[in-house]
Amino acid sequence: FSGRVVLGIETSCDETAVALVRDDRRVLAAPLVSQIAEHAPYGGVVPELAARAHVERLDLLIAQAMREAQLDFGDLAGVAASAGPGLIGGLIVGLLTGKAIAAVHGLPLIAVNHLEAHALTPRLTDGVAFPYLLLLVSGGHCQLLEVEGVGRYRRLGTTIDDAVGEAFDKVAKMLGLGYPGGPMVEKAAKGGDPARFTLPRPLLGQPGCNFSLSGLKTAMRTLILKLGAQALEPQTLADLCAGFQAAVGDVLVDRTRRAMALLERRHGRLPVLVVAGGVAANRAIGGRLAALAAEAGTSLAVPPPRLCTDNGVMVAWAGIERLALGLVDGLDAPARARWPL
Ligand code: KG4
Ligand code: ZN
Repeated sequence: FSGRVVLGIETSCDETAVALVRDDRRVLAAPLVSQIAEHAPYGGVVPELAARAHVERLDLLIAQAMREAQLDFGDLAGVAASAGPGLIGGLIVGLLTGKAIAAVHGLPLIAVNHLEAHALTPRLTDGVAFPYLLLLVSGGHCQLLEVEGVGRYRRLGTTIDDAVGEAFDKVAKMLGLGYPGGPMVEKAAKGGDPARFTLPRPLLGQPGCNFSLSGLKTAMRTLILKLGAQALEPQTLADLCAGFQAAVGDVLVDRTRRAMALLERRHGRLPVLVVAGGVAANRAIGGRLAALAAEAGTSLAVPPPRLCTDNGVMVAWAGIERLALGLVDGLDAPARARWPL
């Protein structure tokens, strides 16, 4: 197979990631460096530090990927870079690097929307066909979208306050679990009793498909202050985390169920459910959504964890999908901190 290979560049947050993906869905190389250690002391991503770290590492990662795949830039069909939404400094680093390679080697540039890259990943991993229902849950985003085709997204619901990953990160911080919080809370929840503490489920059963998480976050804060975060017994910590995770799961299941019903009415059949974004890596939440899909009689697609969190493969793949439709960008394509789908 002598397929077309696209280079993908991801620098929108705290992962410097590069990938070479072929249009037959083979991943030829996917080096990634996480900046978790740099940002951990601050309990969150520091934009200026992130941008500098991307500058230091991106060229080396691209060279590494090309070496692993034994390719020259001239062999590529295109260069795709995340152009937004995200932290503007990092986006500029990745997009400018992509533009330079495209300009020097006469390659098409694809300025990829980072959310679209998350949204299209299940087509790479599971070959999911349009249309499908996407629950996009990450550190910065929390949306239910109908994916009708490449570049065709209909938003059914969004968070009116915090994103799910953000809520996980904040709760982890309150509990002194470290950053990033999602995986820490999931680990700490093992063996916990989700019913020990009574926690709110904001918007549960309400009309529409929007989310709200700040009430749950505040309830956790109040509870933690009452219990004294420093002196938590391991079992209490596990019960708190399990309770929080269960409450988030209830909210996600309720909102997603409503969106599924909406699409069923619109299309006369149930859509495949796809979950993407960093929070999709959470097994407890994944299990709840799998049960929801099974109960409704549809299937669920969740990319493997390394493709749920930020990565270069999803950007390269979005580039392949857009390139196939002739959706390329000029070298004047802007980096955009805000860029709704
Ligand atoms: O998609 P992503 O890598 O970055 C963007 O926000 O675009 O998502 C990162 C978010 C973080 O908030 C992180 O805490 C959360 O996803 N996350 C998780 C898990 N793994 C990552 N949340 C819950 N459980 C997890 N296992
Ligand atoms: Zn992301």
